[in-house]
Amino acid sequence: MEKAKEIFDKLWNSYIELNPEVKRVYDLFKNEGETVVNDHIAFRTFEDPRVNIDVLAQPFLDAGYEYRGEYNFEQKKLYARHFEYVEFREAPRIFISQLEVHKFSEFLQTTVYSILDKIPSPLLQSVDLVDSGASWGVPSYEIYNRLREESEYAAWVYVFGFRANHFTVSINNLEKYNTIQKVNQFLKDNDFILNDSAGEIKGSPKELLEQSSIKSGIVDIDFAEGTFPVPSCYYEFAMRYPDKDGKLYLGFIAKSADKIFESTDYYEKRSSKNK
Ligand code: NI
Repeated sequence: MEKAKEIFDKLWNSYIELNPEVKRVYDLFKNEGETVVNDHIAFRTFEDPRVNIDVLAQPFLDAGYEYRGEYNFEQKKLYARHFEYVEFREAPRIFISQLEVHKFSEFLQTTVYSILDKIPSPLLQSVDLVDSGASWGVPSYEIYNRLREESEYAAWVYVFGFRANHFTVSINNLEKYNTIQKVNQFLKDNDFILNDSAGEIKGSPKELLEQSSIKSGIVDIDFAEGTFPVPSCYYEFAMRYPDKDGKLYLGFIAKSADKIFESTDYYEKRSSKNK
């Protein structure tokens, strides 16, 4: 677990450096006397043998994680797998999705393969790849916008590269804020905007998993054409329920995650702000 914890600390530090609002949420819960445990950490990548799920999962597998489940998101053209550290239940699950690049336009495919070609080869062999950001250099705002028309996910990875897309607070480990409704209210009372695509709460006790998330913060990114604000990462909240055998459900629900992917959608954030 030590090995895994080292990776998590590094990932967490880059994540809160890029997303100060996440640290604000974390501190709010700590100030309420809560213990903040991570339910899962999510990563985004492309279906290319150099950087696919298997490659990004390697440092976690080396640290003792095991493959546990797979998910298909047909509409968003994504495939995902989740990994668990079986011996230590408190360890966060690792959720890695990859974009099915071949299902997109020639433009998107060419763009993705050309940025992957620019990743230094020692980095491709290194455990640091998972937290290496956009090692392909300064992005173009024009390309970012063209990618976004086809896949917000592709545009996000183009700008932010490999890093934690979100950490997730385990509501099961909170004492005072022990329901997803209480967590959501607490966040709204502190001026955070929830992702309300298909409702603030995704999933249900019957499905054994409820999730919500705050919308991404907006960060200024230096593009080749100048500095522009773009949505970065988000923070998620998960409540798990026991199955009929009394065991806490540890998987994911594809249709809920499908909506939660939209937490990084810039225009959604804008429109809900105006409501
Ligand atoms: Ni998640």
